[in-house]
Amino acid sequence: MKNKKRILIVGNWKMNPNTLISAKEIFSSIKKIVLKNKKTDVVICPPFTFINSLFNSSKTAALTIGAQDLSVYDSGARTGEVSGMMIKSSGAEMVIVGHSEKRAAGDTDEIVNKKIQQALKNNLVPILCIGESIRDDHGEYLAVIKSQIKNALAGVSKKSLTQIIIAYEPVWAIGNTNFSAITGHELHQMYLFIKKYLKELYGDSISSLIKILYGGSVSPDNVSDLINFGEVNGFLVGRVSYDPSSFKDLLTNISDIKKK
Ligand code: PGA
Repeated sequence: MKNKKRILIVGNWKMNPNTLISAKEIFSSIKKIVLKNKKTDVVICPPFTFINSLFNSSKTAALTIGAQDLSVYDSGARTGEVSGMMIKSSGAEMVIVGHSEKRAAGDTDEIVNKKIQQALKNNLVPILCIGESIRDDHGEYLAVIKSQIKNALAGVSKKSLTQIIIAYEPVWAIGNTNFSAITGHELHQMYLFIKKYLKELYGDSISSLIKILYGGSVSPDNVSDLINFGEVNGFLVGRVSYDPSSFKDLLTNISDIKKK
């Protein structure tokens, strides 16, 4: 199937790698790969401590830096917190909000909403993660998706809504060992469901501008199926994003599909 859309890959490094030296090495390999695959935009989200150093060596529009989380606060006596302004001033352009690992550690819908507002206030593009923990036979998981979207975006202005990227990441598909967590057809159904709901909430013109990514065991092996049938704008990638050899295969497979 012909696919002319530019694909966005967001790499979530989570708490990896262990040292700044390794982070720089991995990032420099990724940069070489990105420069050879000019049709894909890549955002790497390393741990906070590596953001500025990697930003200083990115120097290409196709490779930018993001963060994995941000505080709900602006500043002050908040030990261990990192604000949106700090992240922005370190060179990041995007920030992941509401990742299931953060939700499991206590981020409620209300906190996710505050983080979205903080990101927008500091000119960071929020990548809002949504996704059900399990799929039941009665389709109740669809109500979970709806309420996650509605609550996370409550009070966001129409103009800001168009900046937001939604990453559909079913929790059961993250960190899967066989890299075949969801099929392109299943993903397509969810893509249509999310788009329809966004349309219902915000109308045609706004919903058509909100990008939708998929995350959860994306790999070089399943990416063709997910692109050909899934209709998404890109992917949120965990493990593969800090393994240069798999990342190279991922981007090569994406660009091969786009040439067809
Ligand atoms: P995974 O992680 O690609 O390793 O499954 C995805 C994520 O948690 O964002």
